[in-house]
Amino acid sequence: MHNTAFKELGLNCAYHAFNVEKQNAGRAIKGVLALGFGGLNVTIPLKELALQYVNPDTWSRRIGSINTIDSKGNGYNTDGAGAARALKEAGVRAKDSSILMLGAGGAAKSIAAELLTEGARVLVANRTKSRAVILAEKMVTENISCGCGDIEPLGLDEVNSVIDEVQVLINTTSVGMRGVAEGQTLVRAEQMHKELVVFDIVYNPLETELLKEARKAGCMTIEGVKELVYQGAASFKIWTGFDAPIKSMESAVRAVLRG
Ligand code: ATR
Repeated sequence: MHNTAFKELGLNCAYHAFNVEKQNAGRAIKGVLALGFGGLNVTIPLKELALQYVNPDTWSRRIGSINTIDSKGNGYNTDGAGAARALKEAGVRAKDSSILMLGAGGAAKSIAAELLTEGARVLVANRTKSRAVILAEKMVTENISCGCGDIEPLGLDEVNSVIDEVQVLINTTSVGMRGVAEGQTLVRAEQMHKELVVFDIVYNPLETELLKEARKAGCMTIEGVKELVYQGAASFKIWTGFDAPIKSMESAVRAVLRG
């Protein structure tokens, strides 16, 4: 995606992926900056951990998670903006909508913060409920949410009792991801209603088990590839100062994921 964008804009840059163990995250970030890299992304499960090795901007400091670092070691989080853009493009208005999010990790924090700011009611259901509670408390202490019922922490066992009252379901967990938990889903078609919009931020495979179930239930679906491209476009702008060629980036991702 980024290499396609660099090529299209005639930029002499290259994007590479590195598999870094958690215990090496700090040294890897410092090393990359010392080597003079133009920037980097951090992804699952390093988004919260990486915060301590950068100078986070106000937004990422408030939400406690980053996905983008520039050449000077400043940290940003573009996940929420990417997800909000994907929802908007699909015609979903966050304002006054009830949105159920699965997961309470780094990506969830960023997306919840963005949606709350846009005026949505956000229900966060996580396998480890205490982490959802911590996320909700963070939104309140950082004044992103007033906490008056606009953010509600839940356990996964409480999904059934709230799903009928929400308009949007977003999976921010790694469940369904290739090589991690492919073919698995936290919510099945029988639990969904037709008016539900189902958005999975997992982009590999293109159609996750959750999205297959959503299609079975007659729901509108949004693929993770949209969030991937939009958060990437925002990172691209931070690194290069240029607007990203979104269409080419999306085609490049789809070509690779189709295999
Ligand atoms: P990221 O920073 O990219 O969001 P993360 O912080 O590791 O990554 O968060 C991963 C999320 O996926 C968490 O909400 C995690 O739930 P826990 O907090 O209970 O660990 C969720 N997750 C991962 N595997 C899961 C599984 N098999 N079932 C349910 N939730 C899962």
